[in-house]
Amino acid sequence: MSEDSPLVEQTPDSLMLFGFWYRALPSDVVKRGELLSAMLLEQPLVVGRDQQGRAFALRDACPHRGMPLSCGHFDAGEIECSYHGWRFEAHTGQCTAVPSLVKDQTIKVDRIYAGSYPCEERDDFIWVFVPDPGPAGAGFTKAAPAPVPAPEIPKFSENYKLAYLTADLPCSVDHGIIGLMDPAHGPFVHQAWWWRSRHSIHEKQKNFEPIPYGFRMSAHTPSSNSAPYKLLRLYAKADSITTTIDFVLPNMRSEIIRAGKYWFSSLTTVTPITRNRCRIDVVAAWNLFRWMPFGAELLKFVFAKFVEQDRRTMELQWEGLKHNPHLMLIDDADRPAKWYFGLKSAYLEMKKSGGEFRHPMSGPVTLRWRS
Ligand code: FES
Ligand SMILES: [Fe+2]
Repeated sequence: MSEDSPLVEQTPDSLMLFGFWYRALPSDVVKRGELLSAMLLEQPLVVGRDQQGRAFALRDACPHRGMPLSCGHFDAGEIECSYHGWRFEAHTGQCTAVPSLVKDQTIKVDRIYAGSYPCEERDDFIWVFVPDPGPAGAGFTKAAPAPVPAPEIPKFSENYKLAYLTADLPCSVDHGIIGLMDPAHGPFVHQAWWWRSRHSIHEKQKNFEPIPYGFRMSAHTPSSNSAPYKLLRLYAKADSITTTIDFVLPNMRSEIIRAGKYWFSSLTTVTPITRNRCRIDVVAAWNLFRWMPFGAELLKFVFAKFVEQDRRTMELQWEGLKHNPHLMLIDDADRPAKWYFGLKSAYLEMKKSGGEFRHPMSGPVTLRWRS
């Protein structure tokens, strides 16, 4: 795919990227002592929380005969399968008991593992590291630790608030992500009388630069149509406000807005559930509105509207995509989408060849579009 071609046909391939942290479930839905099932990259998980509050995630299939472990019981740090009562340590997945064994049956119980995943809690979500799948048919062994800690939202003061929003999208992760990065749909999808009309469309010019595994929209005064910006203008002079927006593989868009001592920071992810289903999670942290009675609710309301407009749009788009139409990505508005596909293939290529990561951008680029 050439970066300079004015028109590129591109059918997203919905390959999912292994070897990264993904958001599995919001923290507040996972209660101590309960087991929940979840799905990430077509892998069924059982997620829970021990009596100390530490979260864990295992493959949701008993290594004996495949019964979902989420149907079992959880007590004293162990999961007991509901079929034959095998027990597994919740964090490591190591088997601790096989009740059918009699004294002289010497199978090495502690060598049996239910697959376990590195699991960390950050900013109101339980994150799970999804490693490359092992060879088909091989049983699980002790899980390797994740190579890096789970992502975290940058924060710029000790006191702040945090809130999240989540929505299921009935489309592949690729369409979810390029929809998230798409600068041109705003005037048509995100209209509201209190927000903007399609007539507010105007020309924009933004600078982008490559960053490891991603790209950055360089620090600039935010678009007059951006939600946090409209609210931030209540606090600071318009030209003292700057924002930086990053996209980083596999699925993360982070936005940092700063205005003097006030800041707003968000990390949005689009997580592949299956090939045709993904979920968008927006988590925001801020130190604004602490004096304003409905500040957080107002922000949540604005974001919920946006996310719902995007969700509805992608639901309708999926109707059209079902029949596998030819698609095109145009310059400059779809350039971020092209970079996303370029980053993704560079990552897959690096894994296949064991070589370097070949970034699709060779240096800073200025893009222009109307929105
Ligand atoms: S299937 Fe789980 S103990 Fe047999
Ligand atoms: Fe949108």
